[in-house]
Amino acid sequence: MPDMTDALITQLKKAQSKYKEALENGNQEMAHLHSEESARICVALAKNSPKEKEKYLKLASNWKNAVIVKGKTPSFHSHIEGNSESSESNNGFKSQAENLISSSLVRWDDIGGLEETKRLLMETIVVAGLQKPESIKPWKGVLLFGPPGTGKTMLASACAGSLDATMFNVQGDKITSKYFGESSKILSSVYDVAKEKAPSIVFMDEIDGVAANRNTDASEASKRMLSTLLTTMDGFASKKNNILILTLAATNAPWDLDDAILSRFPRRIYVPLPDKQTTHAILKLHTKDIGMDCDLEKIAAECVKKCYSGRDLSTISQKAIHTMVNDKNPNLHELARLPFEELKKRKLNTRPLILADFNEAMNTTNPPVNSITLSKYEQWNKEFGA
Ligand SMILES: Nc1ncnc2c1ncn2[C@@H]1O[C@H](COP(=O)(O)OP(=O)(O)O)[C@@H](O)[C@H]1O
Ligand SMILES: [Mg+2]
Repeated sequence: MPDMTDALITQLKKAQSKYKEALENGNQEMAHLHSEESARICVALAKNSPKEKEKYLKLASNWKNAVIVKGKTPSFHSHIEGNSESSESNNGFKSQAENLISSSLVRWDDIGGLEETKRLLMETIVVAGLQKPESIKPWKGVLLFGPPGTGKTMLASACAGSLDATMFNVQGDKITSKYFGESSKILSSVYDVAKEKAPSIVFMDEIDGVAANRNTDASEASKRMLSTLLTTMDGFASKKNNILILTLAATNAPWDLDDAILSRFPRRIYVPLPDKQTTHAILKLHTKDIGMDCDLEKIAAECVKKCYSGRDLSTISQKAIHTMVNDKNPNLHELARLPFEELKKRKLNTRPLILADFNEAMNTTNPPVNSITLSKYEQWNKEFGA
């Protein structure tokens, strides 16, 4: 088959400029015709070069959509040659990047214990934010790793919350499934928007989800997305700048991350299961407006023995509180017959928590990890933590 690529690309460029001209003149009908023509040329390009088939078919569908999304010009250059996009489509990606912004109300004080982990993170942020000689480089990326439920997501949110930073929640699986195919473009925009809205934190939660699954279409897209993100991070970090943009990632399975990813996160902070002091602090936080008629130190020691995570401790506190509530309000369900207005006037009976409330809660709560998995984390920390 003769290579028609060049001829077809010339045709496509012509059709594109006619499409733009029609749009500028407000001639929707003409624009429609030219976008359809462009879509046909892209299909021909796909047939002509099987290697690039996927790319051209995607572009073809963008041209078909161009009629629906009024005034949106699919970017010919960016798809074929990887050049910079037209400002219209750029804006589209930017607004999708903005959709990833979430606000964080978590403050350092909401996190019980974990003093050493918090200190390391705070230091990292302060170094990134302070004025400093050029040779003192802030960490490019920070990885939080540790067993599930130990507060990694909370810690990242506290970084953003304490700085009043713009937080971009880039959770691999969600992005790829939602914006399949366009996710890498959106992610390139994330850092542009992050720069505009600095201080910013780009947070990739559960990064192993993107990196670990292999051999499915979705994971291919995820990996492409991840590599875009990492490249953007590199480009960003190498530029001289005094704006604070920090990339944070979190994982429960650090051993699933490959070298390419790890190298982008030279700072790796272990978020361990809570020790006695942290356990005590978490239990206190989660029962804060309820009295205590038992030795919380002893209960904390028991929880540490059982390898409970922060999330388990939050569950245990809730269960203990419910046991107490049921105890003090035995026929609670009968009140369901009352009209809501009546209900609002009444108050729950409470009493301080006692050991039995906690014991019952612990009996029905299984810890997330066993000692074998735990030593895997310790080992990984020894080898790769920094
Ligand atoms: N140090 C802590 N202080 C207070 N609550 C905690 C702490 N660690 C965990 N929790 C509780 O556990 C839940 C899960 O924490 P999260 O940050 O999502 O864990 P991870 O991201 O490590 O899986 C939190 O929503 C919070 O209720
Ligand atoms: Mg989490």
